[in-house]
Amino acid sequence: MSQNKSDKIESMMDEKRLFAPPAAPSGDRRRPHVNGMDEYLAHRDRADKDPEGFWGDRARQLLDWFTPWDKVMDADMNEPRIEWFKGATLNVAYNCLDRHLTNGRRNKAAIIWQGEPEDDVRVLTYQMLYDEVCRFASVLQGLGVQKGDRVALYMPMIPELAVAMLACARIGAVHSIVFAGFSAVSLQNRIQDCEAKVVVTADAVLRAGRSIPLKVNVDEALKDCPSVERVVVVDRAHSNCAMREGRDMWWHEAMADRTLDTSCPCAKMDSEDMLFILYTSGSTGKPKGVVHTTGGYLAYAAHTTQWVFDLHDDDVYWCTADIGWITGHSYIVYGPLALGGTTLMFEGVPSWPGPDRFWHIVEKFRVNIFYTAPTVIRALMREGAHWTQKHDLSSLRILGSVGEPINPEAWMWYHEHIGHSRLPIVDTWWQTETGGIMISALPYATTLKPGSATMPLPGIDAAVVKPDGTPCGPNEGGHLVVRKPWPGMLRGVFGSPERYKSTYFERFPGMYESGDGARTDEDGYTWVMGRLDDVINVSGHRMGTAEVESALVSHPAVAEAAVVGMPHAIKGEAIYAYVTLSAGTEETEELRAALRTWVRKEIGPIATPEVIQFAEGLPKTRSGKIMRRILRKIASGAGSDFGDTSTLADPGVVQDLIEGRVQLT
Ligand code: PRX
Repeated sequence: MSQNKSDKIESMMDEKRLFAPPAAPSGDRRRPHVNGMDEYLAHRDRADKDPEGFWGDRARQLLDWFTPWDKVMDADMNEPRIEWFKGATLNVAYNCLDRHLTNGRRNKAAIIWQGEPEDDVRVLTYQMLYDEVCRFASVLQGLGVQKGDRVALYMPMIPELAVAMLACARIGAVHSIVFAGFSAVSLQNRIQDCEAKVVVTADAVLRAGRSIPLKVNVDEALKDCPSVERVVVVDRAHSNCAMREGRDMWWHEAMADRTLDTSCPCAKMDSEDMLFILYTSGSTGKPKGVVHTTGGYLAYAAHTTQWVFDLHDDDVYWCTADIGWITGHSYIVYGPLALGGTTLMFEGVPSWPGPDRFWHIVEKFRVNIFYTAPTVIRALMREGAHWTQKHDLSSLRILGSVGEPINPEAWMWYHEHIGHSRLPIVDTWWQTETGGIMISALPYATTLKPGSATMPLPGIDAAVVKPDGTPCGPNEGGHLVVRKPWPGMLRGVFGSPERYKSTYFERFPGMYESGDGARTDEDGYTWVMGRLDDVINVSGHRMGTAEVESALVSHPAVAEAAVVGMPHAIKGEAIYAYVTLSAGTEETEELRAALRTWVRKEIGPIATPEVIQFAEGLPKTRSGKIMRRILRKIASGAGSDFGDTSTLADPGVVQDLIEGRVQLT
C-alpha cells in the first residue's frame, strides 16, 4: 500500500465525528422516499429475506414493462451466469420519455443544459427531448443501424449526446461512449474492439474558453476502422472541420430532413439485451468493454437515483460528471430521466471563467441536489471559501460524492461551506461494473461519518473478506466483494468471456470481486481504501498502469517503463513513471517533455505522467518481476522501510532510485 493510502487510512481511522440525518422536509409531496432508519431497516430486512420479492417490487414500481418476467433473477456467480427479469420486454427510451408524455410531465424540463458560454442555455422538455430522440433514431435507422449494432459516441457535453444515447436505446442499438478527452488512438482501439458501424461526434469541444478540435481525432482513428460506415457530426463550435464526402454528415442537416419518421417506434427489447458498452481500465492490457443490459441496469439506475438522491418531481438535480464515464450514464441520463426528473447537464470546467462556476450555476438554476467528486471539492477548497459566499446556495438539499474516497478534510469543507453544516453528504461507492451505487448513505436515514461510504444499500450484500474469502473482523482490511447478484451488475466484457470470469468471479468463487480494499468498522460502516490492483485513481478516473507503460515503451527512446500511483493533493493520485532509456539515449528535459506529450497523444490528457524519473534499472526479482511495492514507496517520498528486499536481483538499484527521485514543484 502506498504512503498516500496509509496516511489516508490513518486519518480516517481517527475519524470519530458523527452527523445525524436532517429532519425530513415537510409536506406529503416531499416525503423522503426512504424516511428514517426504521424504514431503511425494514427494506434491508425484506431484501435479505426475499431478494426476488424486493427487486421485483422495485422494478415494477419504477419501470413500465411491455411484458412481465417469468423469473426475477436467475443467476449463479460461479459460472458466471446472470439474468434479471428473464422473459420480460421493455424499452429504455420508452421508460425515459414516452411514458412521461402522458403522466403529466410532458411540459416539464427533462434536461436543463448550461453550455460553457454563459448564454448557451437550452431547456428540453420531455416532449422536446422525445421529438429529438425520435428524429435521431430515424436518422440512425436511415444509416442502416439495426438492433444490436454498435454506435460509438465521441462527443462533448451537449444535449445531442443524451439524444444519441436514447435514440440508440429506442431502436435497440448498443452505444459505446468514448470520453471526448481520450485520444485518437484510444478511440480507435475502442471502435475496433466493438466494431461500431456509426460514429457520432462534434467538430470541437468548448473547454475553459478554448475550442479544442475533436473531429480530427475521429478522422485519425478511422484510418483503420473498417467497421465504420458513417459519421454524424454536430456543429458545436462552427470550427469548419473537414468532412469526408460520402462518409460524414452534419447532425443538423440529417435532423432537418422532413421525410423522417418522427414517431419512430420503440424496439421491444428483452430484459437481457445489451444496452451499452463502456470501456474501463483494468490491471492488465487494454481497457475492458464493460457490458450492461436493459432491464436490470435501468431498474437499478432508477432505484438508486430515487433512494440515494431522494429525487422528487420538482427537484433540480445536478450531477457534474461527464457522460463519457459511468456516473454520467447512470446519474445524468438514465436514472433521472427514468424517474421523470429534471437533470442539469453542464459543459465546461469548474474553474472557468472563475472558481465559482459551480456555485454560480447552483444559484442560477436553484439546484436542489448536487453530486460531484472529491477532486473537484479539493481543487475548489484550495481557491478559498469566499468564492462560495458570493452565491446563494440555499436551494441545496442533498450533496453527493463519488469517484474515490473523500478525505475527512474535504468532506468537512463540503459540509460547512456548501452544505452550511446542515446538509447530508451521500458518499457513494460504486464502479463502472456495478452499474449503479452500491454503498452509500440514504440522506434522511443514515448517520454519517466523514470519509465513510457508510453501509451497503438494502439488497446489496457487500462484504470485506480475507484472501480465503472468509469475512474479516471489525477494522480488519481486506477485499471488498459482493456476495449476491444485483440487477445493475455487468453482464460481460465485450468479446471476452474469459476475461469477464477471471477478472471478477474467479478469485472468490461465488462472489463478485471489486478490486478495492476496504474495512468495516465496529458500527458496520465501510471505509473504502482504494484499488488493490495495478489501477491508479487519477481525479476519480481509473487508469491502468499497464496501459501507461505500454504507451511509454512504444516510444523509440524508451527501453522499459514502470508506472505507479503517487499521492497528489488535488487529484488524489497522480501518475509516477520510471523510465529506462534505450542504450545511447541522453536523459534530457526535452525528452521528458516529449514523453509526456507522447502519452497524452497515445491515451489522453488524463494519462499524462505527473513525474517521469529516468532510471538506470528497475527493482526486479531474480525471476524478472518488477517490485512495484518499492516503486510506490519511492514515489510517495519514502527513503527507507522497504520491507523485504532480499529477493531483489540487484538491491543497489533501490538506492539509485531514491537518489534520482523527482520532486514535484
Ligand atoms: O476504487 C473505487 C473508486 O473508483 C473505482 C471505480 O472507478 P470507475 O469504474 O471509473 O467508476 C467511478 C464512478 C463510480 C472504485 O473501484 N471509487 C468510486 N467511488 C468511490 C471510490 N472509492 C471510495 N469511495 C467512493 N465513494
